[in-house]
Amino acid sequence: MSTHGDPAETERLLGLGQERRKTRKEVCTVIFAAVIIVAAVIVIVSLWTSLSYDDSYEKRNVILMISDGFGPASETFARDYVQYVKKLNYNYLTPLDKILVGSSRTRSSDSLVTDSAAGATAFACTIKTYNRAIGVNPEKVPCGTVLESAKHLGLATGLVVTSRITHATPATFSAHVVDRDMEADIAAQQIGDYPLGRQVDLMFGGGRCFFLPNSTEGSCRIDERDLVKESKERGFKYFSTRKEFDDLEPRKDKFPLLGLFTLDHMSYEIDRDPTKEPSLKEMSEKALKFLESATADSDKGFFLMIEGSRIDMAAHSNDAATHAHDIMAYHETIDLVKKYVDKHPGTVMISVSDHETGGLSLARQVSDLPQYLWYPEPVSRVKNSSFILSQELLNYWENDREAYIKNIIRSGLGIGDIDDYDVNWLNQNRTQLDYEYFLANITNFRAQLGWATHGHSSVDVNLYAYGQGSDALRGNHENTDIGDFIVKYLNLDLDFITYKLNRHVLRTFHQAFESTHFHNDEHHHH
Ligand SMILES: *[C@@H]1O[C@H](CO)[C@@H](O)[C@H](O)[C@H]1NC(C)=O
Ligand SMILES: *[C@@H]1O[C@H](CO)[C@@H](O)[C@H](O)[C@H]1NC(C)=O
Ligand SMILES: *[C@@H]1O[C@H](CO)[C@@H](O)[C@H](O)[C@H]1NC(C)=O
Ligand SMILES: *[C@@H]1O[C@H](CO)[C@@H](O)[C@H](O)[C@H]1NC(C)=O
Repeated sequence: MSTHGDPAETERLLGLGQERRKTRKEVCTVIFAAVIIVAAVIVIVSLWTSLSYDDSYEKRNVILMISDGFGPASETFARDYVQYVKKLNYNYLTPLDKILVGSSRTRSSDSLVTDSAAGATAFACTIKTYNRAIGVNPEKVPCGTVLESAKHLGLATGLVVTSRITHATPATFSAHVVDRDMEADIAAQQIGDYPLGRQVDLMFGGGRCFFLPNSTEGSCRIDERDLVKESKERGFKYFSTRKEFDDLEPRKDKFPLLGLFTLDHMSYEIDRDPTKEPSLKEMSEKALKFLESATADSDKGFFLMIEGSRIDMAAHSNDAATHAHDIMAYHETIDLVKKYVDKHPGTVMISVSDHETGGLSLARQVSDLPQYLWYPEPVSRVKNSSFILSQELLNYWENDREAYIKNIIRSGLGIGDIDDYDVNWLNQNRTQLDYEYFLANITNFRAQLGWATHGHSSVDVNLYAYGQGSDALRGNHENTDIGDFIVKYLNLDLDFITYKLNRHVLRTFHQAFESTHFHNDEHHHH
């Protein structure tokens, strides 16, 4: 016999009828027991979450390393190249190879191919946004960043880059503008001129031109604001020379520090004059020294973002040798930071690219039949970036220009068997970019390296991590997961920062809304 359809029987089977017959006392006991159980669950869950990361180190540091425009082919390229020039065995591994944990998917909210602005905002704000966005969401509303939230919680903060400090990647952590070209505004925000006030304790890089007033030589501002002066008024120790950098000491110099070594980007590693500009490794070493010293008496650590910024720019120019030298400088910095992590439990280093650049291919068909090879040797003979050489070509128009061109190919690119076609082509009056791309292609063709674009591509990039908690990054991730990892590791609250960034806007919006509303009401009365 089925009881199906009999409501009373269904109630009985589910025990609902008995519920009604429970006395008041029994109900109180049940509620009391439930409260105890819920409390116990809360205690257990919170204990469990606090233990899900090794909690033995209270004080935590995050070092986020970004290799801009460094795709998987560039990694193989650099390994092959290092093995070739240093005569190492095929099983030599780069400092990154040893700490590979996974990969990162890079697309932005409006394109399969991201730019650096959306790419870094994914790390900084943990959201996908549109290409060109600096620390704002797809609706162009400022989003709280991991750097700002870390600062709010009492951690020290730093940015070390080889591009202009106002360039897309460092900007997304420390500024909020709707377009990456608004570098004059980014500079002002970076020294504290925005709703949160100063958030960055240390900035090393290039890009002085956006801090100088329009009337000063080398400025790229259209207004007369002198951000060097303003930064000093806001307490920054400002400096711009190698000597001042070398003389910096945590003993006598305190945060905030602003070191801008060049007007524009810092030099490519292949072109860098070490008596004028520190290397990425040297800047990172000094930054770590200062961050460690500044947090020595605190139970809070630091957040430091280090970017090998110009790995990307060399790839934009398809300049293989320059790309290799900036990657090797990044490798040296990785080695330094790994040693720091070894000595400082509670520190995690993440290394990731925002995207691939150049569509690099480690083989290029240069004749009817494909050959299975590429040659590092022509790359190893290059002495200068194509960028620097292109500037020489742009500026030298004496009668002996042809000999001058030959000398550039011979000494700059290290090529003995000079092709007349190349000399004639370079002898014409062309643009700087034309010269630059052409020079790079001379080496690429001989090395049999292919490049699909002067822009970015959408291939997944490798993800590396080292130190406490880094196992959580194993596998294939969305780029926003890297930001989420930092949030969790440092126990940050980005929503609160987003609220702080926008509350004045919300108030303004609210007032505007009310006055419009009021105005409309009046209008209706007429
Ligand atoms: C300086 O300002 C003038 C006038 O606004 C502008 O035309 C010029 O381009 C500015 N200089 C720079 C370097 O931006
Ligand atoms: C090219 O590199 C060589 C070797 O480092 C250097 O002496 C030379 O000045 C560089 N040329 C340019 C144009 O910078
Ligand atoms: C090269 O071309 C540009 C643009 O047409 C021109 O301004 C410049 O004077 C030319 N330079 C020479 C050396 O002919
Ligand atoms: C690169 O150089 C090769 C050899 O001179 C030439 O055939 C090819 O068209 C060049 N490619 C580009 C993009 O300039």
